[in-house]
Amino acid sequence: MKTKPLRVALLGFGTVGGSVARILVERPDLADRLHLTHIFNRGVSRKRADWVPSSVVWTDSIDELFASKPDAVVEVVGGLEPAGAWVRRALEQGSAVVTANKMLLAAHAPELLHLAATRGTQLRFEAAVAGGVPLIHGVREGLAGDRLLRVSGILNGTCNYILSRMAASDEAMAGVLADAQRLGYAEADPSADVDGHDAGAKLVVLAGIAFRRHLRLEDIPRQTIRTISAADFRYARRLGCTIRQIAMVETDGPDFHAFVGPALVLRGSHFGLNKGANNVVTIAGHYGGENSFSGAGAGGPATAVAVVSDLLSLTQRTHERGEEWPAGRIAPPPPRPYYLRFVVQDRPGILSSIAAALANQGINLDAVLQEPGYPKDALPFVITVEACEEPALRAALQDIARSDFHAEPPLALPMLVGDDPKG
Ligand SMILES: NC(=O)c1ccc[n+]([C@@H]2O[C@H](COP(=O)([O-])OP(=O)(O)OC[C@H]3O[C@@H](n4cnc5c(N)ncnc54)[C@H](OP(=O)(O)O)[C@@H]3O)[C@@H](O)[C@H]2O)c1
Repeated sequence: MKTKPLRVALLGFGTVGGSVARILVERPDLADRLHLTHIFNRGVSRKRADWVPSSVVWTDSIDELFASKPDAVVEVVGGLEPAGAWVRRALEQGSAVVTANKMLLAAHAPELLHLAATRGTQLRFEAAVAGGVPLIHGVREGLAGDRLLRVSGILNGTCNYILSRMAASDEAMAGVLADAQRLGYAEADPSADVDGHDAGAKLVVLAGIAFRRHLRLEDIPRQTIRTISAADFRYARRLGCTIRQIAMVETDGPDFHAFVGPALVLRGSHFGLNKGANNVVTIAGHYGGENSFSGAGAGGPATAVAVVSDLLSLTQRTHERGEEWPAGRIAPPPPRPYYLRFVVQDRPGILSSIAAALANQGINLDAVLQEPGYPKDALPFVITVEACEEPALRAALQDIARSDFHAEPPLALPMLVGDDPKG
């Protein structure tokens, strides 16, 4: 039986919205399933594009758009408000919503999913995590048969660009970050990327999909990449590793362990080999082992593919019941090995005092690395420690940080190098 095409209204005609419209216009083979009726944007007259068919209504009146009672609303405006109010309004009136807005989902997914379920409609968001990589479909449908244990990945292309370039070039963070800003990879205010907020929001969405639990972004420990230096890459290389911003959530029962921040990963692992702005995510399941997804984590066309794929899946599943994400609780991570980097004003006895502080917390040293050629007043060296509890490590580092020999605050990075989270 032939069904009518889904009437689609587009909210936001920017990078992603423009590319969504482009695909819908350029693919006549989709016309019997998807029909673009409205494009909404503020100051819409400056947005009009001559390649959009004249049948599409351009409007800057949100009321006009909702009055048309679209079957599906695509929200690619971004930000919490007014996008959130528009998503709620669409769901309230029974329209399905497809959104790329990870910040909105990280803050309000449980409420929005509940609203969709109670209104008998759907909220889809493949584009909100890892841009064009079909990760959410892959996890939700392809891995639904497994009991998932861990999701870990490189979810922020800006950080990956910065760290993979530092690894290759031996440059300092400040110069690489400035270049990334100049080339358009990083925002003028890079904090959402480099301090882990963006990857954290994506991790909240991924945890919801993988575990059907909502983790609060505020509860996920996040560590900046700003403190990583060229010396860290040299030491990491000696350990067979490199450094990447990793977002990871795992569970071993009722609680979840999550973090976002720089970590040592093996150079030959999926994470270590991932260069530039690409995303890569590894999902570990009890039965199926590990599966990895990788590809373009951002960019208008790639992200728009995810949006259009969501729209097409709406046309196939009109009777699907919505899902809900009850709250999940975050607990401290399981014991893991750490890389500790100190930059000190050199003098005798420093190593023994650090070793004593670690021993006081029952932490065993694994290796001590010190490369020649650094100045005595800012000498970097590294201690790796065997798997230990994070609270014990924090206590030891607090103790160590009280000493007056530091030229920079100590840095601790998890080493994701064992059989466990290896990526
Ligand atoms: N770009 C990517 O690669 C990418 C990847 C994955 C997910 N996303 C997500 O996709 C969403 C859109 O991102 P984008 O890169 O397409 O952003 P964008 O280029 O800034 O586009 C946003 C569009 O929405 C319009 N808009 C913003 N606030 C509005 C308001 N209050 N009323 C009416 N129109 C408004 C903007 O109009 P003006 O032109 O007037 O500002 C612009 O045309 C965000 O949630 C983002 O996180 C983006």
